[in-house]
Amino acid sequence: MVESEEVRVLYLSASGQLGGAETSLIELLRAVRTARPGWTMQLILGADGPLRTQVEGLGVATRVVEFPAHLAKTGDSGLGGSLNGLCRAGSAVLAAVGYRTALRKAVAEFQPSLIHATGFKMQILAARCNATRAPLIWHIHDYVGRRRLMSKLMRWHAGSCSLAIVNSRSVEEDFQRTCPGLATRTIYNAIDLDRFSPAGPAADLDALAGMPAGAGVVRVGLLGTYARWKGHLVFLRALMRARQAAPQLRGYIIGGPIYQTAGSQFSLEELSAHATELGLTGHVGFVPFQANAAPVIRALDAVVHASTEPEPFGMVIVEGMACGKAVIASLAGGAKEIAQPGVNALTHTPGDAESLADALVKAALDPAGRTALGTAGRARAEALCRTERLGGEVIDAYRLSRFQPPYRPHEDVSSPAGLVS
Ligand code: GLC
Repeated sequence: MVESEEVRVLYLSASGQLGGAETSLIELLRAVRTARPGWTMQLILGADGPLRTQVEGLGVATRVVEFPAHLAKTGDSGLGGSLNGLCRAGSAVLAAVGYRTALRKAVAEFQPSLIHATGFKMQILAARCNATRAPLIWHIHDYVGRRRLMSKLMRWHAGSCSLAIVNSRSVEEDFQRTCPGLATRTIYNAIDLDRFSPAGPAADLDALAGMPAGAGVVRVGLLGTYARWKGHLVFLRALMRARQAAPQLRGYIIGGPIYQTAGSQFSLEELSAHATELGLTGHVGFVPFQANAAPVIRALDAVVHASTEPEPFGMVIVEGMACGKAVIASLAGGAKEIAQPGVNALTHTPGDAESLADALVKAALDPAGRTALGTAGRARAEALCRTERLGGEVIDAYRLSRFQPPYRPHEDVSSPAGLVS
């Protein structure tokens, strides 16, 4: 970018919560802020939440333009083809129409030289609210190909976008199938390697879970949102199996149903009922969502990632590695680009409780092996996830997007009657 002109970057996030896409956005903002302190940056959020305060702490201005409830709750999960689903989709469309006026106004007021949008709903809205015609970058964090509604909407709006940043090669492949023609760049997320480090305070997980302090237990934990595909049930089943060979294992489920999309997440009641059914009472603790994940990770002996579908990237995998912990990862998607089986992670087949149980037993019975994996994991995180690398790559993508006009004019793209007009 020409450094003499004022650069105004507008970030748009659908959610104000702290899931993976949002924590990675914080690090991205930190990276850009550090590399270009003179730029004016603003984040517009579709919902208020802890993301806003963290971003303000970086000196980035924020503004909430709140999604109406119908819009916030709508996504592919739970829509299905049912009458109920169709009614929900209809209400969301109506809600989106009103919302667009508010968002268009907020965008115009900021006068961006570039827009960087995360979250599918926000990305579609950004395409329709960009009256200033600033280059629009979509930052894609999830597979869109398998989402029937979203993939259609993304394809219809891709024409307004200059570039898509994707969080792994695996997501890039999927995205290119959905939106062929739109330029893409794979940029791996970064994490704060000083905060996510082996040294530092550790949380008292037993107290947080309301359990008696465990002596001599091996603590294994699944951290994340309660999204159904994150593999909580597989983890619980695997834990039950693994405890037959390694009764010292104690499991923790850390997180909560933090997103608003209807039907996409487990509830705490569902998960704890399942744990009870499996005879895991007293052997698994539920720790509510923790904004500061590093002390929680440091309290574990192994970090479990159990997604039943390919993981687009897997923040928790690199966070666990950076803290020098043994990581057990479900080997598919972007996670496969990070975790190297037996070198810096134990791995298992997505959705397969038996193979996860084997990895849990291995981790439980081999403390020296855990330490070796942790050391190799820290090196892997340092190689992949430096904030300086992220800053350079993102600024490079911004530069590229300025020379990359939208690949076909938005007006030429037909959309199904009334759905998104
Ligand atoms: C989304 C993806 C997750 C990724 C995160 C950050 O939450 O599902 O895999 O780690 O974004 O890119």
